[in-house]
This record gives sequence, C-alpha cells and structure tokens, in this order.
Amino acid sequence: MTLRKPAVVSKPLNDLILNRWSPRSFSEKLVDNDILVALFEAARWAASCNNLQPWRYILATKSDPDAWEKAQNCALDRNQRWTRTAPVIGYVLSEPVPLPGGTENIWHRFDTGMASAQLTLEAESRGLVVHHFAGLDYDQTRKTYKIPEKIEIICGLVLGYQGKPEDLMDDLPEREIQPRTRKDLGDFIYKGAYGKSAPELIPPG
Ligand SMILES: Cc1cc2nc3c(=O)[nH]c(=O)nc-3n(C[C@H](O)[C@H](O)[C@H](O)COP(=O)(O)O)c2cc1C
Repeated sequence: MTLRKPAVVSKPLNDLILNRWSPRSFSEKLVDNDILVALFEAARWAASCNNLQPWRYILATKSDPDAWEKAQNCALDRNQRWTRTAPVIGYVLSEPVPLPGGTENIWHRFDTGMASAQLTLEAESRGLVVHHFAGLDYDQTRKTYKIPEKIEIICGLVLGYQGKPEDLMDDLPEREIQPRTRKDLGDFIYKGAYGKSAPELIPPG
C-alpha cells in the first residue's frame, strides 16, 4: 500500500495540495516520455516576472544508464542513498536574465520555484511524486554539465512513482514514515507590521 501523509489542515483544500509530499522511496516503474513532457509543460506555464521564464532543467532518466549515473554522482552521498531509487533525476537551474532596461532580476529564483511547484503538482495529479534536494555538489554539477557561471544551480529533483518505505536503506525507512509538520498560520501571516499577527486569520484551537 502506498504510504500517504496528507496535510493536517484547518480548512478543506484540494487533494493535490493535501496529498503532495516528498517521499524518498521510488518504485522501479519508469516514467513515459510523454508524461515527462507534460510535467515540463506545466512548469512552462508558470508566471514569471516580466515573463522572463528563468527556469532551466537538466534531466537524466534510468533508461540511459550512463547519463543517469552521471547525474546521480552530482548528489551528495547522503542523498544518493535514496535518489538512486528514482527513475528520473534532474537539476533545477535559474538564469538571472535582467529586466528590460537592465534592472537586476532579483525575482528569478521565485519564478523558478513557481515553475517547479507547478511541475510537482502536475506530477501529483498523474500519480507521480517529486522530491527536491539541495544536498548536491554544486561545483561538480557545474563542471559535469558545463553550466555557464551566470546560471545559478538551485537544487536537484528526482521523480517517479512512489515505492515502499521498507525498500530504503539505513535510517531512511524510519524517516519515511515520520509525520509531516508545519509552522502555524499565525507564525507567518502578519497584518499592519512585520511580526504582528492577524488573529482573524488564525484558526481557533
Ligand atoms: C529546495 C529544497 C531542497 C531540499 N533538499 C533536500 C535534501 O537535500 N535532502 C532531503 O532529503 N530532502 C530535501 N528536501 C525535502 C524537504 O526536506 C521537504 O520538502 C520538507 O521536509 C517538507 O516535507 P514535504 O515535502 O514532505 O511536505 C528539499 C526540498 C526543497 C524544496
């Protein structure tokens, strides 16, 4: 049975947001190319500052073992313990394209996050799961893929179909079943001044 860890919420939300989480265990099932295209189509239609679309992705699939191995080797060892279970691994990059007139685009990482969030929810809607990871060797990733200096490496991602917690190694089966937690709404919604909570936006209890 697939392990589900729905969000505990104060109001009903749509199922994609409720059920999305970041598993580390993936089944051996490969991802069809058509599905991959659909996920990146979802990313493509994200909003971005001035429509500059700064997101870039480098991908490798298990169907090309050399490319997949090369991509796995860019992840830190502690993450490779689980990224190796996934049939698709990739790197999320962001290009700080300046705004018209040359203004620095300080919003490019936000936009790239929006694209990746859309990709993740599209994946969830198709029965796939995505897990992002920051634990990677940034220098090695840059070298491996000849990523130009001006392009930022944001994080890695793996995706595929969810596997079983017990198929993971070391302490990972136990971590896989840990409950998901979040800050309270009152810890991050303010009104009037930074840090000033908005009681009407905090659920009772
Ligand atoms: C940018 C980013 C970097 C992350 N880096 C790692 C990582 O290096 N290793 C890991 O196991 N999980 C990583 N995660 C997953 C987070 O730990 C996870 O999203 C968080 O604990 C919330 O859990 P949930 O996604 O299941 O709701 C990362 C997630 C994001 C978005």
